[in-house]
Amino acid sequence: MKIGVFDSGIGGLTVLKRLIDKYPNNEYIYYGDTKNIPYGDKSIEELKVLASNIVEFLISKNVDMIVIACGTVSSNLSDYLKEKYNVKIVDIISPVINYLNNHEYEKIGVIATNATINSKVFSKSLNKDIKEVACPMFVPIIESNNLTELQKYLDAYLNVLKDRDIIVLGCTHYPIIKDEINKYLNNNIKLLDMSECISDITNEVKASIELYFSELNDKLIGNVNSILEKKDFIIK
Ligand code: DGL
Repeated sequence: MKIGVFDSGIGGLTVLKRLIDKYPNNEYIYYGDTKNIPYGDKSIEELKVLASNIVEFLISKNVDMIVIACGTVSSNLSDYLKEKYNVKIVDIISPVINYLNNHEYEKIGVIATNATINSKVFSKSLNKDIKEVACPMFVPIIESNNLTELQKYLDAYLNVLKDRDIIVLGCTHYPIIKDEINKYLNNNIKLLDMSECISDITNEVKASIELYFSELNDKLIGNVNSILEKKDFIIK
C-alpha cells in the first residue's frame, strides 16, 4: 500500500516514524510544507488552499491513502478534505478522541497550535474536564532547533496543566520536545503522542520512503535524520 503523509514541516515525521515502525512494509511518501510553516497561525481559508494543494500532489503520486500528520489541519479541515477528495484520508485527532473516550482519564490537558485550540475539537467531542493551552512558540523553536529558548515557554504554557492526569501533545511537532516537557513536569503526567493512537492501517509487502519538502536546507536534513533515526529514505 502506498501511503501519503503530510504536515507543515518536520512535525509529521514523528507520525511517519511511528507508521514505519508499526507498518514497515508499506511505501511512504511524505510532504512537509516548510515554505508555508507555521500552519497554526493561518486562517481556515489559507489552510484549505495549502492542504488541498498537498492532497492533490499526493494523489498525483498515486497514493492509496493519506494520513494528515498535522493537528492543525486534522482539527479544522478533516471533514472538508474527506468530502472533497475521493481517496481514503485518515486524520490524527479522531483516534485520540476515541482513545480518551475509552480510558479513565478525567482531567485532560491539551497543548496545540492556536488554530487547533480555537477549533475546540477536544472540548466539543469529550465529556471530560478539559484545559486547553495554545503554545504558538513551540513550533518555531522546534523547527529552528533552538532549545535554549524553550525553558521560559515551558513554564509559561505548562504551569496551569500540572493538575492534569494526561496531556495530549495536540501538535505533531511536540513529541520532538517530549523529554523536555516530561522533565518540566517531573515525569508526573502521562503525555499522549497522537501517533500512538493510529491503528487501522494495513501492512503490505513493498517498502520505500520518499520525502518532499517545499523548502529544503541543511538544518532540515539534520532534523529529518535525527527524527527518523536514519531510516533508508530519499529526499526530493
Ligand atoms: N505540526 C502541526 C500540527 O500538528 C503544525 C504546526 C504548525 O505549522 O503551526 O498542528
